[in-house]
Amino acid sequence: MDAVTARAHEPASGRLPAYVYDLTALDAHAAAVRAALGGVELYYAAKANPDPELLRVLARHVDGVEVASGGELEHVRRVLPSARIAFGGPGKTDDELRLALDLGVERLHVESPNELRRLIATGRRADVLLRANLALSLGEVALAMGGGATPFGMDPAGVTECLTLLARQETVRLRGLHAHLASGLDAPRMLEVAEGVLGYARGLGLTEINLGGGMAVDYAAPETLFDWETYGKGLAGLRRPGETLRIEPGRSLSVYCGRYVTRVLDVKRVHGELFAIVAGGTHHLRTPATKGHDQPLVVPPGGGSSEPVTIAGQLCTPKDVLARRVPVALAPGDVVQFLMAGAYAWNISHHDFLMHPRPEFRYL
Ligand SMILES: Cc1ncc(COP(=O)(O)O)c(C=O)c1O
Repeated sequence: MDAVTARAHEPASGRLPAYVYDLTALDAHAAAVRAALGGVELYYAAKANPDPELLRVLARHVDGVEVASGGELEHVRRVLPSARIAFGGPGKTDDELRLALDLGVERLHVESPNELRRLIATGRRADVLLRANLALSLGEVALAMGGGATPFGMDPAGVTECLTLLARQETVRLRGLHAHLASGLDAPRMLEVAEGVLGYARGLGLTEINLGGGMAVDYAAPETLFDWETYGKGLAGLRRPGETLRIEPGRSLSVYCGRYVTRVLDVKRVHGELFAIVAGGTHHLRTPATKGHDQPLVVPPGGGSSEPVTIAGQLCTPKDVLARRVPVALAPGDVVQFLMAGAYAWNISHHDFLMHPRPEFRYL
């Protein structure tokens, strides 16, 4: 994060808007996460940002990559031909299941008894984890994918049905359990959830457990990172001899390395409130619209204090707001750098809406 902040004040050159990825900072961050995790396996959830340059840097530190579609699978195979791959996600088609087997994925995460039936029907050898959605208390979280009735994974009845199906055949091998229950948990709560998941897996005699991703990042405090030290030590304490523990974070690995850099086109006052319109907008960086936050930002130094300004993009929708009522002084032509744009940013955005030009991509 320090490297990103330090470079944030450098004058941006060339065409804007641009995504700027700090690969050096990503490398250092991933190395620190890896070191904190000890013997726990680390996979990167490619859905957070599948940019090939990022994948190649992360590959130095991770044990594998988690993908959630045939498209992601082919992409990651192309960029990292020898990576270990886990294939998860609800609604896998028969074609995707076959592709996974053809491309030699290491683990398939089974989401339902029907999916398992279709996999068994291929007659092909496969190694699977059953994705469990356990009724564990998650508290307030950014995104709940489990802990109750959701389309993700299986409740214990579904898991039991899968165990029965698996017991009747030999080609699909049960390797363990997968559980990604929520995004946005801090380290202590992650460990509580891990304890619940491990207890359930042990009850079934399973020793390979993927605890998912979802480590919290704080868009209101870009310098406050997930406490990887506490989490790593906690998992080391929970792990029993003979068990393989694996995690698959996305956002907490790649979010800090990306910036969306753009320029102020206009500043105006409307009904008493100040607005700055920037080139681009949420069709390039949808994250603040989907998560309902203000994207953290830096502006050129020396602007002095200012009355709050709302920073909007070029789209014809009131949702195209990147940050609301931030106390920065902005004038047309100023460069604004939005931080924490390395995950679920460009790749989740609706690029074609209004057909504005696409941003450039630069790598430090
Ligand atoms: C199954 C699974 N694993 C991992 C992740 C990554 O989560 P995060 O980016 O919050 O770490 C997700 C995100 O949706 C997911 O669905």
